[in-house]
Amino acid sequence: MACNVTVALSGELGAGERKLVFVNGRCIVLFNVEGRLHAVDNSCPHNGASLASGRLDGTVLQCPAHGLRFDLATGCMPGPGGLCLKTYAVQETDGHVVIQLEDAS
Ligand code: FES
Repeated sequence: MACNVTVALSGELGAGERKLVFVNGRCIVLFNVEGRLHAVDNSCPHNGASLASGRLDGTVLQCPAHGLRFDLATGCMPGPGGLCLKTYAVQETDGHVVIQLEDAS
């Protein structure tokens, strides 16, 4: 089952900004890339490094640890067969930014 969790106010993150949020025991990074919000687990699927300080090139986020690149639009490394980040659906409702989490169970 999914649950929706508010992680920011609408407009809180300007284009190019990011925010780390702690939700239900998870650490999630919210990115505003050119006005579009993306939410991913703050844990690189390669070796668990924090992605919050990763460099962004368009929608492509580079892990600061070993440099793997992930497209926030898909969550995955460009090209076939790569690793993928855990991504969350993001919506804006009634002035709030809401992400959708699955049930932890
Ligand atoms: S931990 Fe991210 S590239 Fe190695």
